[in-house]
Amino acid sequence: MIEIIGLKKSFGSKAVTKDLSLQVNTGEFLAIIGRSGEGKSVLLKQIVGLINSDGGDIIINGSHLSALHGKDRQKIFKECGYVFQFAALLDSISVFENIALYHLENGISAKEMRPLVVEKVKSVGLSLDVLDKFPDELSGGMKKRVGLARTLMMTPKILIYDEPTTGLDPITTRLIHELMKDTHIKFNTTTIVISHDIEIFKYASHVAMLHEGKIIFKGEASTIWESTDPYIYQFIRGLAEGPIQHGT
Ligand SMILES: Nc1ncnc2c1ncn2[C@@H]1O[C@H](COP(=O)(O)OP(=O)(O)OP(=O)(O)O)[C@@H](O)[C@H]1O
Ligand SMILES: [Mg+2]
Repeated sequence: MIEIIGLKKSFGSKAVTKDLSLQVNTGEFLAIIGRSGEGKSVLLKQIVGLINSDGGDIIINGSHLSALHGKDRQKIFKECGYVFQFAALLDSISVFENIALYHLENGISAKEMRPLVVEKVKSVGLSLDVLDKFPDELSGGMKKRVGLARTLMMTPKILIYDEPTTGLDPITTRLIHELMKDTHIKFNTTTIVISHDIEIFKYASHVAMLHEGKIIFKGEASTIWESTDPYIYQFIRGLAEGPIQHGT
């Protein structure tokens, strides 16, 4: 379903994505791991079109992104729901407006949108009283759920999460993992999640590891523990011992 071939991206003289290839099959729940600053977010942003690649190609359901322009390109990206690393809610508008933003901006009335927003809010496990609140009145876990509800409004076929549990306590982390798994099954999406949390291995069907601009491992989640690659061996055992520090 998603095939990435020889993908390249540099910022100035700094090459971040270096000839990266990866295949994600329909229905997979893929966790991408890797150290802070390795380019995980940059990779996901290239998949959803927030960052243009310098070379290589991404093929989504048979469509080559490099050959698509304008509206055809936008159509593909609409199938990819992206849940931002820091929820990215607009503080000056209500939770309802945040969730329905795209539709409201496209001329659909709030009244018309309400039933769909209510359905999505319920499916991410929030109570309806959040709808009239503003983002700064919510906890971190609630914000992440609102971010997911907003993404689900677009009924994406591919659901991409950038660090959905970073900064959350272990109980909320588990709830978010379960929510991602339930959402994956309920909405029948192909799911990609970047995580620094070892628990994700219990929920993901597959794991990929990003290192030095390339995918150095991709396989079923359980098989990563059998890797004899010294870097992978050390990394996943390090993850098991505690969270990876950011900004290193
Ligand atoms: N828009 C940008 N302009 C310039 N450099 C960027 C840009 N976005 C990312 N980078 C650089 O690309 C590298 C990879 O960043 P990225 O955010 O993808 O890391 P990451 O693997 O997601 O890390 P983390 O786990 O901390 O989120 C970093 O060195 C970062 O500074
Ligand atoms: Mg990141």
